[in-house]
Amino acid sequence: MDWETQQGINVYVHLPFCARVCDYCNIPNIVEYSPEVDGYVDKLVRQIRQTPLESVGAVYIGGGTPTLLTPRNLSKIMGAIRNLTLSDRATITIETSPEAATNEKVRVLQDLGFNSISVGVQTLEEDILHHMGRTGNPSRSLEAFDAVSRFEHVNVDLIYGLPGQSCESFMHDVATFCPQADSITLNRWKTNFPKGRSLLERLQNVSIPTLEDCSEMYRDAVALLNDAGYKPYLLETFSRGNPGPYQRDFFALRDNVVGVGAGATSIRAQTLSTNVQLAETFDPDMPEIVSVPLQCCQEPYFRLGILRDGRICMKKLKEFEEDCGVTLAKASLLRSGALVEREGSLIINPEDSSIGLQLFYKEVMQ
Ligand SMILES: C[S@@+](CC[C@H](N)C(=O)[O-])C[C@H]1O[C@@H](n2cnc3c(N)ncnc32)[C@H](O)[C@@H]1O
Ligand code: SF4
Repeated sequence: MDWETQQGINVYVHLPFCARVCDYCNIPNIVEYSPEVDGYVDKLVRQIRQTPLESVGAVYIGGGTPTLLTPRNLSKIMGAIRNLTLSDRATITIETSPEAATNEKVRVLQDLGFNSISVGVQTLEEDILHHMGRTGNPSRSLEAFDAVSRFEHVNVDLIYGLPGQSCESFMHDVATFCPQADSITLNRWKTNFPKGRSLLERLQNVSIPTLEDCSEMYRDAVALLNDAGYKPYLLETFSRGNPGPYQRDFFALRDNVVGVGAGATSIRAQTLSTNVQLAETFDPDMPEIVSVPLQCCQEPYFRLGILRDGRICMKKLKEFEEDCGVTLAKASLLRSGALVEREGSLIINPEDSSIGLQLFYKEVMQ
């Protein structure tokens, strides 16, 4: 399937429920899964039915851990999605934790028509999982990865910079999933939210990787992925073959994203809108929407500072450089043609923006 040529509307469905809310998680307003989810699903289905959606090219069901839903609830959501005008080659992706990706659940998902899945492995170090307040263990993660291998596209999320993590252990994690995973996402652990800061305080006796350690982890992982045939797709996601319909590309690269559910984000007409309701009080008939013009700094995931029109936001790029401990050789990017100067701004070469981006990323990989 040629993911890149997916056109039309992209639908993002948000299910902010997890078996247990992990201590390190920076996703806002996640609540514990309970039977009350049934009521939320009914309202969600109503919202999907009420939204006029034509020629849907991609659907992404994210969260949270949407695979925790019962087969009946998943089937209700898929029923509403199937009523939309889906293109023949529509990609339908769901996010899962390893815990929730049992053989039985994977069979249900395939029967319902999901063709793509993203598994949040995070790390294969049991001790780290434990002190980060995450349930699960490495062997369950490997079993889950095995179970989802029948999907057309499989992404694995890994986190680096975790307390107690060494470069060797992170390389082991990356090596375990390549080359089988279609894409691998390397998330640098973020702590700039209240729960993250209190976790840091709690883990004072565990060694926290420094910025230099994180930079080494990122570079070594990228070199390993590069050798295994993965190409940069988004800054943190590397894929073999055609890149998958991963959540971040919904919000970083696509237009026409229609978000449904409490906390879902939409992108339309250069405007980013978020439904700021909470799951507990979700009302599909009275959505509370906060909208902002779509600019680089408001795009949640495009940390390199590349604006949608190809310009580079230097402030954002500098933040990225400081965050990852890298310095991009802008002069050499200008020489290679990846970047060009236009009216005082740096822009990705508009003649061939994909080559521009590849070269741009390559600088990060060296
Ligand atoms: C919705 S979750 C993925 C599915 C599932 N809930 C799970 O955790 O396995 C999205 C991803 O955000 C990333 N993430 C969560 N908290 C993070 C943090 N504090 N720093 C960096 N990445 C984080 C994790 O890699 C996680 O897989
Ligand atoms: S990391 Fe995944 S499982 Fe843990 S709280 Fe966040 S969304 Fe839920």
